[in-house]
Amino acid sequence: MLTNNVWHDVDEYFFEKLIPVDKTLDNVLQTNKNANIPEIDVSPTQGKLLYLLAKIKGAQNILEIGTLGGYSSVWLARALPETGKVYTLEIDPTYAEIAKQNILQAGCGHKVEVIVGNALDSLPILKKSGPLFDFIFIDADKPNNPQYLKWALELANTGALIIADNVVRNGEVIDSKSEDERVQGVRHFMDLLEQEPRIEATAIQTVGIKGYDGFVLATVK
Ligand code: SAH
Ligand code: DHB
Ligand code: MG
Repeated sequence: MLTNNVWHDVDEYFFEKLIPVDKTLDNVLQTNKNANIPEIDVSPTQGKLLYLLAKIKGAQNILEIGTLGGYSSVWLARALPETGKVYTLEIDPTYAEIAKQNILQAGCGHKVEVIVGNALDSLPILKKSGPLFDFIFIDADKPNNPQYLKWALELANTGALIIADNVVRNGEVIDSKSEDERVQGVRHFMDLLEQEPRIEATAIQTVGIKGYDGFVLATVK
């Protein structure tokens, strides 16, 4: 049985080999640390995965649900052409303020719109007055994942890529009796995917510096 240690060290090895030293991204993480923001951002190798997928997709408009300190927002913004935009939704005004600073410092201010408030309030407003999206990253409160999937379908262009973070949670996702509402949120989200004819999806399990977790990747027909 491989240990967590090996996952961690291999992830660091790939990080060193594949992700050039990047003061801007280091500064984002340091600012978050100084502000006592929880260290639950995507890892560097995962951030780069999001960046590569958004690039491959040729995304123009990206929706992110769950900004935190803006670490994943910066990765996503970098994947966009100059005319592209990330709309990122954050409920916590303190986190949102730090994220805005980080995004400006990273030179991505013109490409990122941080929208403060409960995503469940912001999403209907986006539907009325925002664009449709080519890439949607669901990474906020997991109990609302089923709602976020419904909104993602409302806001997606044909062919859009939808990615959801934290769908494995150390394997807890298969515990149907889990009393953790985050696990139940992910399970309900999986049930919706199972039934949704407009979506084709898969899931990948990930290990690394953030432990054992995973992503759902889906495309909208
Ligand atoms: N995507 C970020 C991590 C997001 S962590 C990154 O990888 O860098 C999850 C974030 O979702 C937290 O900042 C939390 O405050 C936010 N959140 C939780 N519930 C929310 C809601 N209902 N609406 C919007 N944001 C929410
Ligand atoms: C948590 C949330 C996340 O989005 C994540 O990537 C890791 C942990 C959490 O709420 O614990
Ligand atoms: Mg996450």
